[in-house]
Amino acid sequence: MAKGLILKTSNNTETACYELSLFGADIQARDEVLMIEPGDRLFLMNVDRNDLTGAFEATDKGGYKIVPEAWKGQYPYQVKVKQSNNLHTIIDAKEILNSLRLRSHRLLHDFEAEAIAQVIAANDFQETLPLTRRALPNSIKIASKELDKVRRERGISKLDDEHPSLESTTLWDYPKQSYGRTPKGNNKYAGVTPAFIIYNLVKRYTLPGDLVVDPMCGSGTTIDVCREEGRRVIGYDVVPTRPDIIQNDARRIPLDDNSVDMIFIDSPYGDNIKYNESPLSFGNISAETEEFYDELEKVMVEAHRVLKPGKVLGWLIGDQWVKRKFTPVGFKIYNRLTCHFEPMDIICVTRRSQTSNTGMWHNRALRFNFYLRGFKYLHIVRKPSSDSPLTQTGRARKIKWAYYQRDQ
Ligand SMILES: C[S@@+](CC[C@H](N)C(=O)[O-])C[C@H]1O[C@@H](n2cnc3c(N)ncnc32)[C@H](O)[C@@H]1O
Repeated sequence: MAKGLILKTSNNTETACYELSLFGADIQARDEVLMIEPGDRLFLMNVDRNDLTGAFEATDKGGYKIVPEAWKGQYPYQVKVKQSNNLHTIIDAKEILNSLRLRSHRLLHDFEAEAIAQVIAANDFQETLPLTRRALPNSIKIASKELDKVRRERGISKLDDEHPSLESTTLWDYPKQSYGRTPKGNNKYAGVTPAFIIYNLVKRYTLPGDLVVDPMCGSGTTIDVCREEGRRVIGYDVVPTRPDIIQNDARRIPLDDNSVDMIFIDSPYGDNIKYNESPLSFGNISAETEEFYDELEKVMVEAHRVLKPGKVLGWLIGDQWVKRKFTPVGFKIYNRLTCHFEPMDIICVTRRSQTSNTGMWHNRALRFNFYLRGFKYLHIVRKPSSDSPLTQTGRARKIKWAYYQRDQ
């Protein structure tokens, strides 16, 4: 059954959509465009005019750089469309989509695409007052009822629409551990990873069908996120907590060289949490000893071996302050990582649901003059490839610096 997608355009990019019969998107709708099949219905939302035009029909599968020079390469995930004579445009697009509980850049069910097509074709609300200040037009009331009915019948809830946003800065802050209808990992597991972190890495650095590996996957957050996003995934742990996790010591990953598209690791940060009784657990080694970093470096070497060249490893880690001694675990792990990998970025992830987030601990921190840990590091590195800076020699990078005048 055909489905649909609403893609965004602007006054600047719209002409090319019509001239080339091509719609484009950046990473924000990459997966969705790549999942478009011939016959799917497409709608074009001009964000400057806040209008919506459709329905177009995809003439081919969505792909990468179908017309490489279009939009100077800025919207490389593209789909070819058929422009029928039956195109209509409606205004107040954002408000209408909100009232129908639909969003751009999300795959639409067949019945959702049909509802928008009908609202656009009815076009019974060309009025001067904005939609927020007048009664809902008939077509929207009918569509809204029909959508609610089918959603109820098919058991689709609001939670199914809940997806994290893609982060654009290096400061990530999540008030809860998971999102959506199904749990991701187990939020009762000590040291569980916020699913949003894994979602962001998976969406940025992998494509649907890619293989993601988590060598220390605890309660399985990586497995759950990857499955929902259509990635293949293997999760290992020294003590598996569920049947789809494979028992394995991360110092030896049973996979071929150059076979994995992304690795995520949220390792123990020292011996502050007792994960299990296994003598092989890194959670038994103090982060104040070099042994901790030597053992984790063995995991880095394995991660490097199994990753394909150019592919990404994300490593979440926090510093330690125990009995008046600070250990910069994050820096030390980063130092080891960069012996093998090329640095890409460091993200600061705020720590929220800490057991030490109590009045008593905040008081102690002030009284005894120390700080509670407020953040973790997410180190993002990649295995060097032939076209990456670590392996390039003598090729100068052109940098254009901007100088800003400062007020005195
Ligand atoms: C911070 S937890 C991971 C949390 C996980 N990402 C989640 O969301 O549930 C660290 C995990 O590393 C595992 N671990 C410790 N030493 C290991 C080793 N040598 N090999 C594999 N896993 C290990 C622990 O059992 C623990 O489950």
